Amino acid sequence: MQTYVIQGGKPLSGEVPVRGAKNEILKLLPACVLIPGPVHLTNVPWIQGVRVMSELITALGGSARADEAKHELHVDGSGINTTTLPDELVTKERATSLFAGAMLARFGEVTLHHPGGDAIGERPLDLLLDGLKTLGAKVEQDDRVYKLKGKLRGARFVFRKVSWTVTDNLMIAATLAEGTTELINAALEPEVVALAEFLNAHGAKITGAGTPTIRIDGVKALKTNGGPLRVMPDRFEAGTFVCAAAATNSDVTITGCRPDDMEVFLKVMEQIGVPFERTADTLHVKKHKGLRATEVVTHEYPGLSTDYQAPITVLLTQAKGLSLVHETIFEGRLFYTDKLKQMGANIIMADPHRVIVNGPSPLRGRKIISPDLRAGMALLIAGLVAEGQTTIGNIYQIERGYEGVHERLRALGAHIERVDSEKF
Ligand code: EPU
Repeated sequence: MQTYVIQGGKPLSGEVPVRGAKNEILKLLPACVLIPGPVHLTNVPWIQGVRVMSELITALGGSARADEAKHELHVDGSGINTTTLPDELVTKERATSLFAGAMLARFGEVTLHHPGGDAIGERPLDLLLDGLKTLGAKVEQDDRVYKLKGKLRGARFVFRKVSWTVTDNLMIAATLAEGTTELINAALEPEVVALAEFLNAHGAKITGAGTPTIRIDGVKALKTNGGPLRVMPDRFEAGTFVCAAAATNSDVTITGCRPDDMEVFLKVMEQIGVPFERTADTLHVKKHKGLRATEVVTHEYPGLSTDYQAPITVLLTQAKGLSLVHETIFEGRLFYTDKLKQMGANIIMADPHRVIVNGPSPLRGRKIISPDLRAGMALLIAGLVAEGQTTIGNIYQIERGYEGVHERLRALGAHIERVDSEKF
């Protein structure tokens, strides 16, 4: 098993670059199914999801050629000639569900297994299926396999609950539908706007992305535009590095990020007492003189994203006083706090959605298994803070979302090794 072995308790210093946004590229790749020719993407992060989706496009008859050194990907979905997605790839990532909207839009049918992804609570597809049915698809379900069929027509769909990926999925699906689609109570994330811009750059007619009402006037076909298209910076990765710097009381500059997309996260950092300076594309975190407890409530964008919750919770173990962390989006996203307790944090779980953190607590190195992507990365930050050695297993979960994170942390002076260990 691959593990990270960390000798903690050492401050970080220097500059760390942010890679392209996981939750944008994982939407752009399925959208390439609709584009009748090559797409050139730059600032592509080398993470598992990108590999899985590239393999999926290839398995379906398209092509995806990577230039890993340059962080570039050349995708061509025009050769896709089969509408059944291979189970072993679909079940590796949640975002493979995006192929449902794209394949339906192009071929009028698709068969796929329930997608995989993080173990952060039940992750149903009901909203997606409701949305696709509203656009005219017929759905047959056999255990965990869905067969979707139908020529899509524009329609009005109201989200009873905001869903980021379903907003993306329906936007892609409606691009080639006959007539106009309106998505009401749509997700507002900057990556949703980026996906709409990507589709529009290839001939789609989408307005209102970034507002609660998105209008999609269906077009007969998209066209190629040659690109290149640059993936936006990953705001969660940037936030993770801010928390790592603050939790270890370090002076670190995060480069290639977009602080304007991180307003509420940065407000919470101010509240906790993390000193930082920002430019349009950097965040300079400075040493602090003590951190303050606060109340943290996750919310859909532009609120504080659930993806920042775990790194902030680790930071709060180093803040003075009682903090309340309220996770409103996923019911399984606080269980990793048990592992923080094993490292010495003083945390009480009030219920599956709320924990109380009593800080500051010195943390001690431990052997721990990474439960999911964000929690795993938070435990890695705890390992950087902790005295002694921390070994993190199941780092595959961390590497699903953070490319070469141990190398980038090492460049900041962290003592972290990626080790292949027989036993854990
Ligand atoms: N939901 C339903 N039915 C559905 C879809 C979602 O009830 O059909 C529920 C979910 O269970 C959840 C809520 O709606 O309670 C919001 O889920 P959403 O659909 O917005 O989440 P998602 O699109 O599956 C994306 C990100 C997640 C991020 C969440 C919330 C991607 C690929 N994933 O997931 O990112 O945590 O939005 O912001 O964009 C991560 O990067 O580690 C990650 C998990």
